[in-house]
Amino acid sequence: MSNKKKTFYITTPIYYPSGNLHIGHLYSTTIAWVLRNYKIKMGYDVKFLTGSDEHGQKIEKKAQEKKISPQEYVDIQSNKFIDLWKKTKINYDFFSRTTNKYHEKIVEEIFNKMLDKSLIYKGEYKGLYSINDEEFILEKEAIKKDDNFYHPISGHKLEWIQEESYFFKMNKFTHWLIDYVEKNKNFIIPKNIWKELKNNFLDKNLEDLSVTRISFEWGIQITKDPKHVIYVWLDALFNYISALGFDFENPQKDFIKYWKNGDEIVHIVGKEITRFHCIYWPIFLKSLDIRLPTTILSHGWLITPEGKMSKSKGNVIDPLSLLNKYDPEIIKYFFSSKISIYKDGIFSEELLINSYNSDLANTIGNLISRTISMIRQNFCAPVKFKKTNNNHDLDIIKSISNNFEKFKKHFDKFEIDLAFESMLHLARDLNKYIDLTLPWKMKNNLDLLETTLNLLLNGSYAVLSMLEVVCPDFVNQFKQILNVDNFDFDEIENFEKFNDISINENKIIFPRIK
Ligand code: ME8
Ligand code: MG
Repeated sequence: MSNKKKTFYITTPIYYPSGNLHIGHLYSTTIAWVLRNYKIKMGYDVKFLTGSDEHGQKIEKKAQEKKISPQEYVDIQSNKFIDLWKKTKINYDFFSRTTNKYHEKIVEEIFNKMLDKSLIYKGEYKGLYSINDEEFILEKEAIKKDDNFYHPISGHKLEWIQEESYFFKMNKFTHWLIDYVEKNKNFIIPKNIWKELKNNFLDKNLEDLSVTRISFEWGIQITKDPKHVIYVWLDALFNYISALGFDFENPQKDFIKYWKNGDEIVHIVGKEITRFHCIYWPIFLKSLDIRLPTTILSHGWLITPEGKMSKSKGNVIDPLSLLNKYDPEIIKYFFSSKISIYKDGIFSEELLINSYNSDLANTIGNLISRTISMIRQNFCAPVKFKKTNNNHDLDIIKSISNNFEKFKKHFDKFEIDLAFESMLHLARDLNKYIDLTLPWKMKNNLDLLETTLNLLLNGSYAVLSMLEVVCPDFVNQFKQILNVDNFDFDEIENFEKFNDISINENKIIFPRIK
């Protein structure tokens, strides 16, 4: 058996640098980063990609409005994302920009290969287009109001365009895709996304996709037919592999390791871009005989208690203003533990503060400070693990193992909120265990007291190991207090680990927010 680590490659969408920063961007990136952290703790060899999607008509227009070149514009704008990830302490391996020369070269080669393989033909596109969503919309899908057409989901106004264009033969792959998705149950999560896409696009007759534009210039130009630039989605999707060094002839080692021969590849996307990721992306890859990702994980939208955030309502939440008030780990904890990726999730500052106060300050903070002060009051030497037959003790040992197992099971199914609920369940059990066993009444039975406090210490370690996946900086501060170097998953069920460790004085790591 080889003991090589399994690989895990995870990506966020590459965001348009034209919009304002949105807490939705922070939400998606947090989910991806938390999965990254989990897999690292599980012993995987992990790579994490985020980035910005820098071509297209929308970007060109914005740059014109600002009277600067599109390149200058995207240079300024993409830095805002880089700065956001720095402020939120989200570390990644690749910041993928579609204006980088290597990516541009690869995408043109891909286009030419598709031409050579007769996957692409020249024609004319006549129909509706949303510049804001960079998406072609069929007239029958559009919403018509007072002689204008609007995007069915985003509501953006559509334009009529009629121009020469190259088309990709999507239709040819319809049956292959249906068959592939039905055989690979984890390819698209959650399942209802696929049902909708199948109903709306595949069952009806998948249209061939227009993959070039001629009415603007800001895109990857086709050398053989220079008035055409490549459609921004064909360009953007391939960032996921160009960043790893994909090449038809000489692929670089990261591409071979994390994509071609990789174990798990997961794309995180918001539900409005599933059409591109779950239909076009797998078909593009299949058409070139490139391996497919393992899972496309689609999440719902963050909304406010009053409903969807939109510019017109003026209720879009700027992540930077939140970061001026709250530690980024408080925000990341809320996104991971209080929102199910399967539904739209409500965000408000009140909910954010409640989740922190209730889970981190009251439940976990209290558990640890009670445990530590009882240990320090009663013992100057380490508190050792002892075999026990007491029912409360046996129950708490079981709770540590069971909740850790559940935590992993949920994470493996991308049920991140439920995973953290298992962590909290354990923390609550531990607090209850204190209330049931009443350690302050054990002063005349120090053996019993030592057993109880040791189990509390081991339980706290388990809780902190799980919490570290989303709050590494907070948890780091507990290392000095508990006198440990790491919070390893592998050590959770080793109950002897504190036998030689003296605990330091407690500090308040989670003060309540008032
Ligand atoms: O679509 N709730 O970029 P984009 C949750 N460039 N997530 C949200 C959100 C919200 N309210 N608002 C935005 C693009 N997001 C393309 C992607 S990938 C090859 C190209 C997140 O800037 C969510 O992940 O419009 C959504 O899919 C993404 O931002 C859209 O970002
Ligand atoms: Mg968008």
